[in-house]
Amino acid sequence: MSQIYKDGAKVLKLIKTKNIGLKGACFKLKRNVRPIYALINKILPVRKKLENEIQKKWKDCEDIELASLMLFDYWKSGKISGGGAVKHKIMEKFKPSKFLAKNLKKQKRWVIINQFKKPKNTKILGKQDEIIPDLYCIEDSAEIAKMIKNSEIISQEKASCMPVASLRLKKGNWNAIDACAAPGNKTLQLAGRMKKLSTGKIYAYELNPNRFGLLRRRIKEYRADNVKAINGDYLKAEIPKNVKVAIVDPSCSGSGIISHQLIDNGKITVQPDLVTERLKSLSYFQEKVLTKTLNIPGIQQVLYSTCSVHKIEDENVVHNVLSSFWRKFKLVKALPKWKRRGFGDYGELMVRVNPLEDKTQGFFVALIKRRSLRLGHHIIKRTHRYWSKKKHIKFN
Ligand SMILES: C[S@@+](CC[C@H](N)C(=O)[O-])C[C@H]1O[C@@H](n2cnc3c(N)ncnc32)[C@H](O)[C@@H]1O
Repeated sequence: MSQIYKDGAKVLKLIKTKNIGLKGACFKLKRNVRPIYALINKILPVRKKLENEIQKKWKDCEDIELASLMLFDYWKSGKISGGGAVKHKIMEKFKPSKFLAKNLKKQKRWVIINQFKKPKNTKILGKQDEIIPDLYCIEDSAEIAKMIKNSEIISQEKASCMPVASLRLKKGNWNAIDACAAPGNKTLQLAGRMKKLSTGKIYAYELNPNRFGLLRRRIKEYRADNVKAINGDYLKAEIPKNVKVAIVDPSCSGSGIISHQLIDNGKITVQPDLVTERLKSLSYFQEKVLTKTLNIPGIQQVLYSTCSVHKIEDENVVHNVLSSFWRKFKLVKALPKWKRRGFGDYGELMVRVNPLEDKTQGFFVALIKRRSLRLGHHIIKRTHRYWSKKKHIKFN
């Protein structure tokens, strides 16, 4: 039996039983995860339907994940790779079918131009997004696949491009950091913007060695020579000098990623107010990363983002951390042209993306900037009253 089916079935089981997302489950395999990720991602929209078909025709099937992977390939290409008993059962019990042609929609994807290896022909990409520069929404084709393979364009969800697009960057000689960098989407996007503005570097930290390997490979592939990747714990790292800009996109529940939800329970929900032990522990980590970043001497702007829809990982993290930093830092309006904003006080300044209504994954973005002036006495009094009250508010 082909290894990809074995790995794919393991990934599906891990997600179902351990309540982790698709990416997290793929990385647990400790091998080249791209083909498995791509396969599972394609299956997700029809996974439930495939499993129902199997249950109808093969009631005592012992490995429904493995069988649905093989049935997917069989109905898509008419073939199943390798051999084995499960393959033979599928070929015996199922006829070729137009099921996938009817149920799989033609895929559209967002792509962003790689500033280090720009494509010669951008006409094929159509019209640029109105809010995010160099971002395009296109239908998959052989030519697009080739451009992605050549690293001329990067496949990246629109929402995931919003954080870096929110940064208000100026010309100069400054460095940046990405506190939690792999697989490097935001690092690479910032590297592209920085190339035109600063002679400095991005220091990109990643704790997980497998994910670090992927980050390093991508930096090389995309020729982003202004990025230095560091395999280590950001919370223990000594921060280089002259860092003015930071991205804080820490590990989160991933609850804004629709594919995670599809695979977990087959239905999609957005639950901003959900609080669980796991979410509490994630938000504790997120606060630590943001706090360390705001303590960097001379830091001018810090971008905080997650692909979570839960307030406890989003607005609450920003509020809790700012309650100790408000004298020096303030929230500024991130991506003003985007309509959907955050919840609660200062919500207007933050960005929210709803995965059910905004045709991209769920996301949260907050932009924090150092105050340019010392606060006047009256403002300090008023603001202090506000934040000292906040310290006692429980956000759940
Ligand atoms: C949400 S992902 C980052 C996604 C990335 N910003 C992008 O756009 O491609 C969070 C990453 O932080 C890493 N991470 C978790 N704890 C860390 C730590 N203490 N130091 C550095 N990286 C960490 C995780 O392994 C994971 O790869």
